[in-house]
Amino acid sequence: QQQTSESLYVINNFAQKFFTTALFETDEGTDIALSYLKERGFREDIIKKFQLGYNPEAGDAFAKAATSAQYNQELLQKSGLVVLREERLRDNYRGRIIFPIHNQSGKVLGFGARLIKKNDKAPKYINTPENEIYVKSKLLYGSYFARMAIDKADECLLVEGYTDVVSLHQAGIENVVASGGTSLTPDQLRLIKKYTNNLTIIYDGDGAGVKAAMRGLDLALEEGLNVRLVLIPDNEDPDSYVNKIGAAAFNEFIANNKKDFVIFQLGQSLVEAGNDSVKKAAIVNRMAETISKITKTEHFTKRQDYVKQVAALLKIEEAGLNDLVNKFIR
Ligand code: UTP
Ligand code: MN
Ligand code: MN
Ligand code: MN
Ligand code: MN
Repeated sequence: QQQTSESLYVINNFAQKFFTTALFETDEGTDIALSYLKERGFREDIIKKFQLGYNPEAGDAFAKAATSAQYNQELLQKSGLVVLREERLRDNYRGRIIFPIHNQSGKVLGFGARLIKKNDKAPKYINTPENEIYVKSKLLYGSYFARMAIDKADECLLVEGYTDVVSLHQAGIENVVASGGTSLTPDQLRLIKKYTNNLTIIYDGDGAGVKAAMRGLDLALEEGLNVRLVLIPDNEDPDSYVNKIGAAAFNEFIANNKKDFVIFQLGQSLVEAGNDSVKKAAIVNRMAETISKITKTEHFTKRQDYVKQVAALLKIEEAGLNDLVNKFIR
């Protein structure tokens, strides 16, 4: 186990260097991949900082390099970098931009690989399969680069994707990590909680983004986090939006559009319910349950504060809501 983990780190380190060299020092890399990244607006210093790379189109460029460097074939497969096809090792990420995923000390746990020319047959991103060192539910992309900035700001921004993290860094916003698209897990939230109590979710401005954020809310409250939300305008994500409006305007947008997530959720539900009294009753229950997730004694004031605000917004008695909240706690 320990030995396998160590070997996987070594292989990933070798692969990261191979992909970076392929990106910067081969014609195919500069013509196809580096130009793609630059067209998207990524600067070279940022590309280097995040150790982005490129896996050439040729079916086995990396596999060949790795086997001639004597890496064990089973471990290579376990790393997800190669796959066995017709009894030959093939590159799993061919023709893709490579995003290395680092742990807290900067070692590479795995990779996200984006297809340059999107098509209907292949998924846009392929990620490292679960193995001894890559456990998706326990990691946050960008945390290695964000650690100090999170500490300094006492706030962690959470986005969906790799490109969002890289673009925000480029815009000078460094206290940012990505969940990798999927909804937040308790382990990821615990990781954030180690750095700060203040979480600001900045998900894509589509329905899926809001839904994914909603799913994370109760979990985040259970962890004792203060959760705020910034909604990016329709059909944009943090990466596309910062490229559209520029770093200064984007910084200002974020600063001015943080909403308390609990109150936001209530507003959202009220709009959906309209005049339907059954739906409204369900909202009261739902909000009581959400508030009940704040159980830590040191957050008692915060819970009372929510009871007050939510009762006012729902036009119901504070005491009644409080009773309901307490029922969920027991
Ligand atoms: P998005 O579809 O929003 O991609 O998925 P993106 O990050 O904006 O990437 P670009 O701008 O199109 O290049 C958000 C995140 O979800 C994960 C990735 O981590 C991605 O960054 N994802 C998405 C996958 O793992 N697989 C997929 O096929 C798609
Ligand atoms: Mn701190
Ligand atoms: Mn999306
Ligand atoms: Mn995007
Ligand atoms: Mn996106």
